[in-house]
Order: sequence, then structure tokens, then C-alpha cells
Amino acid sequence: MKTKIAVAKGDGIGPEIMDAVLRIFNANDVQLDYEFVEMGKSYFDAGHSTGMTDQAKEAIEKYGILFKGPMETPKGKGVKSINVTARKVWNTYANQRDFKTLNGVETVFSKAGIKIDMTIVRENIEDTYGGIEHMITNDVAVGRRIITRPGSAQVIKYAFEMAKRKGYKKVFCGHKANIMKLTDGLFLETFYDIAKNYPEIQASDIIVDDLCMKLVSHPEIFQVLVLPNLQGDIVSDLCAGLIGGLGFAPSANIGDNISIFEAVHGTAPDIAGKNIANPTALLLSGISMLRYLGFTGHAATIENALLYTLEQGIHTGDFGNRSTPSANTTAFADAIIANLGKHPAIGGAFAQPNFECKTNMDFEPAKNKMTESEPNVKTEIAGVDLFVESTLQPKELAELAKTKLNEKFQIVMLSNRGTQVWPTGSIYTELVNQYRIRFEKTHTTLTQKDVLHLAADISEVVRVCSVEFLMIFDGKLGYSLAQGQ
Ligand code: NAI
Repeated sequence: MKTKIAVAKGDGIGPEIMDAVLRIFNANDVQLDYEFVEMGKSYFDAGHSTGMTDQAKEAIEKYGILFKGPMETPKGKGVKSINVTARKVWNTYANQRDFKTLNGVETVFSKAGIKIDMTIVRENIEDTYGGIEHMITNDVAVGRRIITRPGSAQVIKYAFEMAKRKGYKKVFCGHKANIMKLTDGLFLETFYDIAKNYPEIQASDIIVDDLCMKLVSHPEIFQVLVLPNLQGDIVSDLCAGLIGGLGFAPSANIGDNISIFEAVHGTAPDIAGKNIANPTALLLSGISMLRYLGFTGHAATIENALLYTLEQGIHTGDFGNRSTPSANTTAFADAIIANLGKHPAIGGAFAQPNFECKTNMDFEPAKNKMTESEPNVKTEIAGVDLFVESTLQPKELAELAKTKLNEKFQIVMLSNRGTQVWPTGSIYTELVNQYRIRFEKTHTTLTQKDVLHLAADISEVVRVCSVEFLMIFDGKLGYSLAQGQ
């Protein structure tokens, strides 16, 4: 029985490269049954802000697999990227990108004889990608960066499991916990918690700026890296550059129920419709999908045919030896088809037998899954940060706020752009028209109402932009200190 998957060809070069890849799959007799679904530009243009048809949503949720070409998100129409939405809505929490030196694709590293073989696992749902942003004064934009314990645990566990499966000995966590002590700090803490379950794998962490420097000077050090979303996004494009560009970078978005396989490049509108696009990245993503579905034999045969073709110097216009004529998309796919069964001289995959194929989804969840790491944590309110709009000097604002203070609170500090400016600070710190006033409890136990009443009282003398509770969880501070505090 064939395995059914949903296929969205995408926009721009999407249909050309998807047709090329499916032709290669069919030539190798891969037992897949495709349901083509409508998503992307045409559907946005028709006025549907979700960018997909109900039939597309139904098919993807039914089969659990979406193989997709690149899609265009219309600019300036207030719609969210279909690519990001799809990853978030279906909780494909791990974005896996494999970066391997490809013989025939010349880079500074291949010329220097440095072999690259690494996998980046990027958290795919959280971080700044929630897009929760507000202008809280006319001059000040604020974005929420969300890192959660269950979300971090999911992706970190995936990275360790993947490393174990592939026999890798070391997993690095990239982060910026030295600056973002609570958000990246939580990601890092979770990393070492999960690592305890994998004693056979060495766990190490590296600050992301140091990581970037080492990736360009010694990329051979790294095998598996796991990172939060935004840092993972940037670092994985850096790694694509190490192996020859986005045209050679596959991407798998893995979730427990639904997974999405796609190329990481865009719709390349400049070359769309010309039959000259390079289908390699989509083909490599398709090969990861075949492995994921259990078609390991087909995956190895097709990967070997691709590597053999690259070794022969056959190339599309965007890479390879400029002194030899380039093949168009159709001819490049034809060459791979003609090379099915051949092996590259260097590297190459073992022709493993097919595993038992992952069957299509056989259950439908009845409700959204709620994840909570420790339900019985003791929480306590320690105070509140009120973010207010003001052009007063720090001392004047502190005096004004004191006029509305009640006995349950004291003002401990004011900060501006995260830097403490009252009770101590420097006259050289430049200000913007938005302050944080930190109130801490005096003796009493605080309730939510106490905090909101205080906010209401303060709002009588200054505009309150937002209210952030200061919490303590099992005795541990749940808020950061200001710089200089
Ligand atoms: P792009 O990746 O489409 O193009 C950048 C450059 O790379 C262009 O010169 C293009 O010709 C070239 N290129 C890309 N893929 C190629 C291929 N397979 N073969 C040969 N050359 C290739 O990036 P751009 O121009 O920033 O974005 C264009 C559109 O794609 C936008 O609407 C964007 O939203 C969308 N996009 C979609 C993605 C997805 O569906 N996952 C990812 C990135 C962008």
C-alpha cells in the first residue's frame, strides 16, 4: 500500500523544482501517493488570510506529512508568513537542517580539504517568532521573547535522540544566556537536564557569538548543535553558506504528529518560469522525508545518484564550473534519473533496506495538548514592573510615583531601556520616553488585585503602558535585575 502525503508545489520556482523532484521519486518507484493541495500566494490573493484551503488543512492533518515548495507571503497586507504559520500551528517544534560537504560543489572549505558534516536543530515555535510586538510609546517598540520549559525540552530531546540514532558523540547547545539570563538561561538549564538522560553523549554549550566565529574558522569541530529559534535561524543560514549556499540546504520541520519538509530558499521570483532553478535543496529535503517515512533504501539510491551527478560536474546555472555549460532544471533531474543505481566516488549513502513505513495518522486528537513541567510549583508575587510613558527626569518621575504609593509597596528602582537610572545612575545615560518603575512588596503578601490597584492609582499621574508582575517560583526569582542594579 502506498503512503499518502500532502504536496504543495508552492509559488515562483516551486512548481518547477517540485515537478523535477517528484519525477526523480517516481523514476525510483517510491511508493508514495501524492495529494496536491493549494497553499500560498494564489490563496492569499483570493483574500484568504490563512493562505491555505480547507482541503489543504484537512489533508495535512490526515496524512501527517507536508512536502512543500517555497511560498510567497504578500508584503504589507497584514498577513503572517504561511511558512512560519504552518510550522507553529502544527507544532513542528524541531527544525533539522543537515549540512554536508558535497563533492562537486566548490567552497573555500572544500578547496582547503576541510570536510563539513553537521546538523543544526533549531527550536521552531517559540522565541521572537511569536510575533508579539507592541509600540508602547510612539518612540518605543517592544517584542516578547517566549522561551518555555516544555518547548525547550521537546526540541532538545529531539536533538539528543537524533544524535543517538546517527551515532554522534557530542551535542552543543548554542545560546546567549550570559545576557538573556532567564530566557536563554531556561533553554540552557533544560539542555543540561535533558542531557542527563544521554550519558553516552557529551553535552557542551557555547555562546552564540563564539559559535559563529568557530563555525567559520573550524567548522569541522561541530556535529550536532541545538539552538533557540532566532539564533538557530541565523546560524543555520551561516552554515548553508559553508557548504555552498541555500541551494544545497535541506530542511525538515519535525513534530510529534505532523512534519513538514521543504527547501529553505525562497520562491526566486527573478528566475521563476525559466526552468533554470536548482532543485537540489528540495530534493535533499525530499530525501530526508523518505528516510523519515522509512523509505531508507530509496533515499540512499536517490542521494547517491545526486552525489554522483554532482561529482560528474553537472550543474545548474547557480553553482559549479562556470566554464562548462549549465543544465536546466529538467536536464539536471534527467541526469539524476539516468544515474539512479550509481555510487559517488566520495561519501555516499549506504543502500539500507526500507524500514517499515510510518503509516498515515491513525488517530485524531480530541483537544489541544497542554504541557506543564511542574504543576505544583509554589508561586508568590514579589512586586510589579510598571512601564510608563514619561519625559520627566528620573528623580522627578520617582517623586511623582511616590505620591500614589500605598503601604504595601516601595519603589526600588527606575530603569530606562534596561539601565538603572534611579536611585543611582549616570547623568550620561540617554533616556527615551518610556521608563520601568519597579515596585516591590514591603511586608504583606500581595494579591493580583493589590498590583492592579496600584497600577490604576499610578495611572492617575502618568500613562501606564504595560504591567509585568514580579514572580517568585519555589523561592527562585522569576525576573531579571536592571543593568546597574
Ligand atoms: P530567494 O531564496 O527566493 O532568492 C534569493 C536568491 O537566490 C535569488 O537570486 C534567487 O534567484 C536565488 N535562488 C533561490 N533559490 C534558488 C534555486 N533553487 N536555484 C537557483 N537560484 C535560487 O529569497 P528572496 O528573494 O528573499 O525571497 C523571495 C520570496 O520567497 C519572498 O516572497 C519570500 O517571502 C519567499 N520565501 C519563502 C520561503 C519558504 O517558502 N520557505 C523562504 C524564504 C523566502
